[in-house]
Amino acid sequence: MDKLVIQGGHPLSGDIYVSGAKNSVVAILPATLLLDVPVILENVPDISDVKICLSILESLGAEIDKLSEGVYRISCLYVREHEVPEELAQKMRASYYFLGALLGRCGKAKAAMPGGCYLGERPIDQHLLAFEALGADFHLIEYKNETDGEGYVGAVELSADHLYANHISLNVVSVGATMNAILSAVKADGTTTIENCAREPHIVDLANFLNYMGAHISGAGTHKITIEGVRELRGNAMDGSVEVKTYSIVPDQIEAGTFMIAAAATRGDVYIHGVIPHHLRDIADRMEECGVMVEAIENEDIVHVCVNKGTMFHGTNVKTEPYPGFPTDMQPQMAVLLALSEGQSNITESVWEDRFKYVGELKRMGANIDLTRDGAIIWGVPGLHGANVRACDLRAGAAVVIAGLAAEGTTEITDIHHIERGYSHIVEKLRSIGADIRRISM
Ligand code: EPZ
Repeated sequence: MDKLVIQGGHPLSGDIYVSGAKNSVVAILPATLLLDVPVILENVPDISDVKICLSILESLGAEIDKLSEGVYRISCLYVREHEVPEELAQKMRASYYFLGALLGRCGKAKAAMPGGCYLGERPIDQHLLAFEALGADFHLIEYKNETDGEGYVGAVELSADHLYANHISLNVVSVGATMNAILSAVKADGTTTIENCAREPHIVDLANFLNYMGAHISGAGTHKITIEGVRELRGNAMDGSVEVKTYSIVPDQIEAGTFMIAAAATRGDVYIHGVIPHHLRDIADRMEECGVMVEAIENEDIVHVCVNKGTMFHGTNVKTEPYPGFPTDMQPQMAVLLALSEGQSNITESVWEDRFKYVGELKRMGANIDLTRDGAIIWGVPGLHGANVRACDLRAGAAVVIAGLAAEGTTEITDIHHIERGYSHIVEKLRSIGADIRRISM
């Protein structure tokens, strides 16, 4: 078990580069099961969730070649399995995308209920609603946990003699259910419409990938998506070329936002490269309300965050909402900036019931935060001090890293495996802009 050790108080400065989006690649990797030709994916982040997805694909029979850093050639032509290994499915939330992809590929699928960050109840009723609407039967089963022999595991089993188009009206704006509806409908006969869709950048990226390979999906990024089912996804046959097509994963909006907050909290001057600025609009707006200068370099993939030494931040109110609102996945990170912003700030978390596990860790570093029924009230303090803290989940871990960078003194962070699920090479990236951060084996 390793830990991170941070000597805080150094303003971050220089150029940092964002990787491909975790929440996009964990859907696009399962989507390769729908293809009738091999494909090359690039800008794939080096994170543990990707390693798990690649292991699941290989367990199903896919052939995977790592061509270079972040570049993989994937062929699912000889996949014959439709069951996701339990021990892998339970390691991350996005394993349920294999349900939609396998259902769309062969009309059957089985996967243990997903793992991932515990943010409170994480139901999948809307995913099941979409699968059923397209003609699938589902069974929720429980069996003895084969991995560690303790307790029981819930699993989902899907089967469909034939998938046919339908109108799907989601009752909740759900990223996962929207993705799974797309994955299972893309080869269903006829035209499927999905209402009340989530609009996140990673949903648009999945639709763009599938369309690039021959699908007919329109409306991604809006609340209504229309899919004309196709029999095959042969990408290169569309233009007669024979080479294997290459698709680049969209930049990670949340990684970019995390670096933006880190630059601000340390009163630094950082250029964040490889981003899509309009994905960061609401994050930038909230930061500017605190007094942070955020500049999108026109016609570039760069966002510049600069805070003059001695700048006093002032508090603001943040409510998390589905895209294009303020992302829930940026809530813990933003709390660190608010903890350093004078006056009172209010955070309202509208997506997850339990996304405040980081609060106790920040309070150990001197933050003044009280939890309320649906969020938190933060009173800004002049500064934070180092402490021994833990990464309670992926984004809570990002928050304590930012707090450690801004704090005076030494911060040690354990349980860093949570952080490595979603941030590739975070130590090297932060060191490249002046952070005194090291990974220590315990
Ligand atoms: C995705 O989770 C992300 N994970 C989460 O990011 C992110 O917080 C979330 O979307 C919201 O943006 C991945 O993409 C792998 P939802 P997901 O379905 O799909 C309720 C991170 O830090 N709901 O959009 O599981 C649910 O309870 C992770 O990168 C149902 O009621 O989230 C929640 O209140 C954490 N029934 C709301 O919808 C369902 O069937 C939004 O959940 C599904 C969801």
